Amino acid sequence: MAIIKVQKGTKDILPSEMPIWHFMEETANKIFTKYGAKEIRTPIFEATELFARGVGDTTDIVNKEMYTFEKSDRSLTLRPENTAGVVRSFIENGMHRLSAPVKLWYKGPMFRYERPQAGRQRQFHQVGIEVFGIKQATADAEVILMAVDYLHELGLNDLTVELNTLGCPKCREEFKTKLKDVIRPYLPQLCEDCQTRFDKNPLRLLDCKSPECQEVYAKPEIQAVIQGDFICEECSEHFEELKNYLDTLGIKYERNRLLVRGLDYYNRTVFEIKSNNLGSQNAVCGGGRYDSLVKNLGGEDTPAIGFAMGMERLASLIGERAEEKLTAYIVSNNTAEAVKLTQELRSKGIACEFDLTNKKFVKQLEKASKTAKFAVILGEDEIANGEVTVKNLDSGEQKTVKRDELKLD
Ligand code: HAM
Repeated sequence: MAIIKVQKGTKDILPSEMPIWHFMEETANKIFTKYGAKEIRTPIFEATELFARGVGDTTDIVNKEMYTFEKSDRSLTLRPENTAGVVRSFIENGMHRLSAPVKLWYKGPMFRYERPQAGRQRQFHQVGIEVFGIKQATADAEVILMAVDYLHELGLNDLTVELNTLGCPKCREEFKTKLKDVIRPYLPQLCEDCQTRFDKNPLRLLDCKSPECQEVYAKPEIQAVIQGDFICEECSEHFEELKNYLDTLGIKYERNRLLVRGLDYYNRTVFEIKSNNLGSQNAVCGGGRYDSLVKNLGGEDTPAIGFAMGMERLASLIGERAEEKLTAYIVSNNTAEAVKLTQELRSKGIACEFDLTNKKFVKQLEKASKTAKFAVILGEDEIANGEVTVKNLDSGEQKTVKRDELKLD
C-alpha cells in the first residue's frame, strides 16, 4: 500500500530535535518574563476577515498565501501570523483597561502557502512579542532589546539588526506620490508583481528582488527619492530618540532604507534581524510599530509594537543540543520490585524506566548505559536488605545504599 507522506512545506519535529525546541521555548519564557511579558495562546484559525483587515488585502500573505476554508458558511483561515490574532484578543478581552504597557508573548505554528525552500515552510513556528499602550520610542527600544537579549541567550551573536522608519500615514503618502512620479516612466519595464504594487502598495516596490526591477530602482533619480529624508518632524524625532536609546543600550544597528516589511499595518519603526549564516531566507526576526491596528480592528486607539521570529530558522542556527537522558534505569529481574521502585522514584520527580520485558540482567545494564545517567540495581541481596546499588554510568562509580537514602546527583 502506498505510504502517506508528510505534506510539502511541512515537517515532523522529531524527538531527537526536541532538546533545541525545549531550549527555545524555555528561554523565551525566561527572557520575556524578565521584561514583564505574559504568555498568550490564541486559536490557530480565525475569521478570514481578521487577516484581510489586519495584515492588509494588498499584501502577498493575504492575496496568495492564506489557507482559507469554509465551515457553516463562515470563511476561516489558518493564521499566517499572530499579530492580528493577539490584537483581536486584546480588544475582545478589554486589555486596554490594564495598566500600560501590556506585554504579551506567544509561540506556535503559522501557515503560509509559499514556495517551500531552505528556511521557508508552509507550516512554520514563530515566537513573538506584542507590546501595547506606549507611543514613546522607549517601547521600540525595549522591544528590540528583548529580541537581541533572547537571541544572545540562545547563543546567537552573528546577527545584524536592520532598522528603518516608514513615517506616519501623512508623510508616507507624500513619499509614495514622489516615488510613483519617478518610477512611472519605467512602469513597462517592471515585473508583473511590481506593476500591481505600483498602484496598490508602492512602498513594496522597494522590496522586489527581481533583477529588472532592481536595475530600475538603482537609477539616480529614483535613489534620490529613496535616500531622501521624507519623514515629518514628529516621526523624525521618534526615530532619533529610538537611535539614541539603542546607542545607550549598546545595540548596534544598520539603517536600511529599503526595509518596508511585507505587512500593511506598520508605521514609523520597522526592523529585521538577519543572520550572516543563513542562505537567502536570512531574516530570523521581523517587527515594527503598528499604532493604528487596534483602532482599525474596532478597539480603542492604542499604540503598539512587536516582533516575531521564525523558530525553524533559529533552530538551524542553534545546531546540535545533546538529547536529554533519563535520570535512572532500574536494573532488576524482580519485575514487581522494579515497578515499585520506579514508581517511588517517579513520585519524587525522578525520570526513570524499568525493563518491561524482564530481559537478562546484562542486557538491562546495556540499555541503562545508553539511555540513563544512573543504573539503579535491585538484585536479590539488595531486595532482602532494603538496599539498592547505584552505578554512575559516566564515571562507573558504584555504591550500595539504603533504599530510603537513595540520592541521584
Ligand atoms: P514576518 O516578517 O512575516 O512578520 O515573520 C517573522 C519571521 O517569521 C520571519 O523573520 C521569519 O523568521 C519567520 N517566517 C516567516 N515566514 C516563514 C516561512 N514561510 N517559513 C519559515 N519561517 C518564516 C510577522 O509575522 C509579524 N507578525 C511580526 C510582528 C509582530 N510585527 C509586529 N509584531
